[in-house]
Amino acid sequence: MPAAPIRSICCIGAGYVGGPTMAVIADRCADIQVTVVDINQARIDAWNDPDLSKLPVYEPGLDAVVGRARSRNLRFSTAVDEAIAAADMVFISVNTPTKTKGLGAGQASDLRWVEACARQVAKSAQGHTIVVEKSTLPVRTAEAVKAILSAAQQSDHGEPRSFAVLSNPEFLAEGTAVRDLESPDRVLIGGEHPEAIDALASVYGHWVPQERILRTNLWSSELSKLTANAFLAQRISSINSVAALCEATGADVREVARAIGTDSRIGPKFLNAGPGFGGSCFQKDILNLVYLCRHFGLPEVADYWESVVNLNSWQQHRIARTVVQKLFGTVTGKRLAILGFAFKADTNDTREAPAIRIARDLLEEGAQLAIHDPKVESEQIARDLGLIASEAPDAESGPTRASLSGEGTWWPSASVADALDGADGVLILTEWNEYRQLDWSDLAQRMRQPAWVFDARSVVSREAIHAAGLQLWRVGDGDA
Ligand code: UDX
Ligand code: ADP
Repeated sequence: MPAAPIRSICCIGAGYVGGPTMAVIADRCADIQVTVVDINQARIDAWNDPDLSKLPVYEPGLDAVVGRARSRNLRFSTAVDEAIAAADMVFISVNTPTKTKGLGAGQASDLRWVEACARQVAKSAQGHTIVVEKSTLPVRTAEAVKAILSAAQQSDHGEPRSFAVLSNPEFLAEGTAVRDLESPDRVLIGGEHPEAIDALASVYGHWVPQERILRTNLWSSELSKLTANAFLAQRISSINSVAALCEATGADVREVARAIGTDSRIGPKFLNAGPGFGGSCFQKDILNLVYLCRHFGLPEVADYWESVVNLNSWQQHRIARTVVQKLFGTVTGKRLAILGFAFKADTNDTREAPAIRIARDLLEEGAQLAIHDPKVESEQIARDLGLIASEAPDAESGPTRASLSGEGTWWPSASVADALDGADGVLILTEWNEYRQLDWSDLAQRMRQPAWVFDARSVVSREAIHAAGLQLWRVGDGDA
């Protein structure tokens, strides 16, 4: 039996994944009505804002896609039940953070939001509904979703209903979300019902070539998402471990990365040494994998993957330690500039950003941090650091009594030049393009000498820093 065409989609969760994914689906499928729902009214209002620069997610190109689709077949709403009732297909795209307490705390995913969604679908769906897991989930979550839905085969009004559950993990990376969605390496659909898989494949078929649409069973699909992220993160920990060795031996990690990356079996991507990986997925997904391995009695496998996360934390603490060491063993009362707070360039997302851990370590040491990021709001930085911003001090004034008391403070800087005023050191923690084009000879005048540049993202030129009379530490550079 051919799959009935999908006419109406509901996506629960208007976050970093749900918003952009649905915007692209709506843009590419003029014949499908797409409604994105969320319990967060402020978020929905922001998605509906006539001013497209106010969308809650910053992604290059997203404003144009949302602008086009919103006037046609894309809606954002808080009417969750209504949207579920009208949908042939419901995507679950809600947050699945690591549990902070209870069984599996610190490792397992907190599935309370996914379960709440499944129950809401069970309550409000009508007729036949295909339920698609979009959030990254631990293997066999679909089992729980299926159990909740199958207990609801009759609606409250007695009409028969039916459900099919699919896993369709999202592989988009932030900052390139629109490009990744418009031309994905692959789309993965896991499930047990061929007609449901065909129905979802035909949605993507509007713009993705059929040979890029992979079909698997439910569990392979769920596990593939965790594994893809674990492999990517592992490459970053591997190159960061080599960076430390390069610094100790006089080698240069950029040269090593280029040399190994030309081996076609290794490949050139994801070999940039840096301040460690951040983002909402890598750490969470690996810890999830670790938890699953322990659960299934595979402690050696669990330890192997856990070491990827441990090395990442070590790299972040190591950078903060290096700063302290280079600045004569103390940063108490010293001004330091932090350039970049987002976990990578071209996003306003700070989840698990390396800047958080590094800034916290420096605050703990009593540093005075001027923080600049082109896209991250200062309220977000305050939440991440658990510390409200101070007034920016006068750049001319020497250390105040308060600053020498050992209390770390921070303030937001509107420009790079402001951030560097009176600073003893500057840390580059996000690879924003604007940081590649700074005039160091001018900026050096603003800093207190001897001053240091700590480049954790390899964005500055060694010659330009030295010509400006500044000292340089660069990740993985044994010869800076
Ligand atoms: C990742 C996966 O790439 C994506 O497929 C998945 O759907 C979600 O998780 P994302 O977290 O958005 O995407 O960003 P990604 O580009 O993968 O970067 C993750 C972190 O690794 C960033 O902090 C980035 O700066 C860091 N990174 C990446 C490096 O330090 N070096 C590299 O070579 C690449
Ligand atoms: P992701 O990066 O996976 O997209 P986000 O945290 O950015 O995660 O977005 C998840 C969204 O899901 C949030 O906006 C949250 O309010 C929403 N959400 C969580 N639970 C529900 C629910 N039961 N119904 C509707 N929306 C929900």
